[in-house]
Amino acid sequence: MNDAKKGWSDYWEKDSAEGEVFVDAEGERHPALGDFWRVHFESLPDGARVIDLASGAGSIYAHLPEEHTFQLSATDISDVALNALQDRYPQVSTIECSADAIPLDDGSFDAVVTQFGAEYAGIGAFAEAARLIAPGGKFIGLCHIRDGYIDSSNRGQMAEAKILLEQAFIDHATRMITAAFSGDADALKNSQDAFVTAAGPVVEGMSRCKKGIHTYLYQGFRQLYERRHQYDLADITGWLDAMRGELDINLDRLSRMCAAALTESDIDEIRRIFEEHGLKEVHCTPFETAGNTLPVAWNLTAQKGSK
Ligand SMILES: C[S@@+](CC[C@H](N)C(=O)[O-])C[C@H]1O[C@@H](n2cnc3c(N)ncnc32)[C@H](O)[C@@H]1O
Repeated sequence: MNDAKKGWSDYWEKDSAEGEVFVDAEGERHPALGDFWRVHFESLPDGARVIDLASGAGSIYAHLPEEHTFQLSATDISDVALNALQDRYPQVSTIECSADAIPLDDGSFDAVVTQFGAEYAGIGAFAEAARLIAPGGKFIGLCHIRDGYIDSSNRGQMAEAKILLEQAFIDHATRMITAAFSGDADALKNSQDAFVTAAGPVVEGMSRCKKGIHTYLYQGFRQLYERRHQYDLADITGWLDAMRGELDINLDRLSRMCAAALTESDIDEIRRIFEEHGLKEVHCTPFETAGNTLPVAWNLTAQKGSK
């Protein structure tokens, strides 16, 4: 299994929130994405063949009209994501593949859609998208934007997660809790001093960037430490060990998301690729949403000329 597939499958196995990338402070879906997709779905003709590239568990199809006659397909690199999608939308045909190598014929779709998806496969995915569009068909995408709201948050979270690693936070926490259970007062004092030094930059990070694994890990450990009399040592060290794996998965996903974010020059390149494939009216603007000062995505649309 390649790294990207494994990383994403781990993510989809653990994720209980249907994998929404853009949620508000309460973890709820932001209405702007639903509004965007509802308007575009309304513009498609009856019976339109639609494919979602890098669909995840099907966030886009959550906004389909209640009644429609579309023929729906979805691709993703992760079979775990596609299984989750099929549990929710059994009528969707799924294809496990990378978005830059889709085993389907040219011109098979009236609409190729993607949301925080195709760009994970690199710019080549946009050539694939264009190839799949039938004459008169459309591309409709919301793509990660460099230095936008999500990208800035990801970069912030990644920097703080790296501080956890640099400070060997989990090692110090493990030593301190082990000493606390051992009853050795000297060992406890030494490990507490070392822990406080290691935790300092992590706590500072929580004021720069609240959301992220650094806050979850610090607060989670603090709570376990304070209530340690209610637990066995192995429960707490087991939790800390599991957090090592979580931290790796988290950093891997964040770095993939950062790498996927498209710059203005990427957009110029995509525009060129689209035009080469006969797409016209290529429009790309930052997607702004209420409550966020930075744009959340690129809003990228294009239409293929009719025959
Ligand atoms: C941030 S999630 C977005 C999922 C979904 N579009 C949504 O809006 O919820 C990115 C998705 O891209 C998929 N992915 C990552 N690399 C890919 C690739 N090279 N080809 C196809 N899918 C990929 C992941 O498995 C994941 O489901």
